[in-house]
Amino acid sequence: MSQRPRILLTRRWTREVEQYLADRFEVTLNEPDQPLDAEALRAAMREYDALCPTVTDRIDAAVLDVPDRRVRLIGNFGVGFNHIDIATAKRLGIQVSNTPDVLTEATADLAILLMLMATRRAGEGERELRAGRWTGWRPTHLLGQGLSGKVMGLVGFGRIAQATARKAHAAFGMQIAYYGRRRADAAIEQQTGARYVASLDALAAEADVLSLHCPGGAETFHLIDAARLARMKPTAVLVNTARGPVVDEAALVQALAARRIGGAGLDVYEEEPRVHPGLLQLENAVLLPHLGSATEQTRTAMGMRVAVNLEAFFAGQPLRDPV
Ligand code: DGY
Repeated sequence: MSQRPRILLTRRWTREVEQYLADRFEVTLNEPDQPLDAEALRAAMREYDALCPTVTDRIDAAVLDVPDRRVRLIGNFGVGFNHIDIATAKRLGIQVSNTPDVLTEATADLAILLMLMATRRAGEGERELRAGRWTGWRPTHLLGQGLSGKVMGLVGFGRIAQATARKAHAAFGMQIAYYGRRRADAAIEQQTGARYVASLDALAAEADVLSLHCPGGAETFHLIDAARLARMKPTAVLVNTARGPVVDEAALVQALAARRIGGAGLDVYEEEPRVHPGLLQLENAVLLPHLGSATEQTRTAMGMRVAVNLEAFFAGQPLRDPV
């Protein structure tokens, strides 16, 4: 019988990482690559030594607290961990790791992509062209907003926000302002050219592009609600590559439909993969399917980062990325 630790990957990973793990552990893959339901996750907690979930798995107390539990490590594939009940995991002595750093640039790139698509009305233009509705060049066709000298307001100022700030400042000459629970070190402010704004309301009012980079969870639920949207400029664009529930989606639909803000670029949604039907009707909403870290290189690096944590754990060493 194999003595190698038993690992479950709840979704398919890149081939390179699956092979790396299979060479070291007894790995079970979810061949159909469909999200596991609560019962399957509970069963997995009894069968495996480590569970490697993703954002599509709800790892709540009912999943974690099963009788005869075998899992001792949850190696999350992703940096965000609001889908895991960390307090319960801690209480049960289950360790949890995540994958910071390796997805920073890819996710910041996607925030920039959404900003450009929304401010330059790229989705609208492509839909018009593909539908055969394009009648040719004209001086007033699909006019967007330029970015040079405009204010990018960042909500949260962790690694991804800082990378987004650097790109926006260096590539587009934007001014950078940010709001976070804590002010960043002066050195980081200097490197990113970022200015601290002490209130989210003030940042929302000032930003031409308001880009969200805070964690999900109860503390940030509907941080961007109708009142905050009402503070934004009528030309401003909201970008969300963080977590869907940070934004009150129904309030956003109303603000976009009434043109109280200029547009939105969204990669995440309140109830993924469901998207608010109102958003689907709006020309001024750019909608991507949670692609923040979706490059071949980044997804492989994320998997390898999980592998580093698995190897440390089963060698009896401290986790590289404990949560
Ligand atoms: C992340 O890493 O948090 C991505 O959003 C996928 O979970």
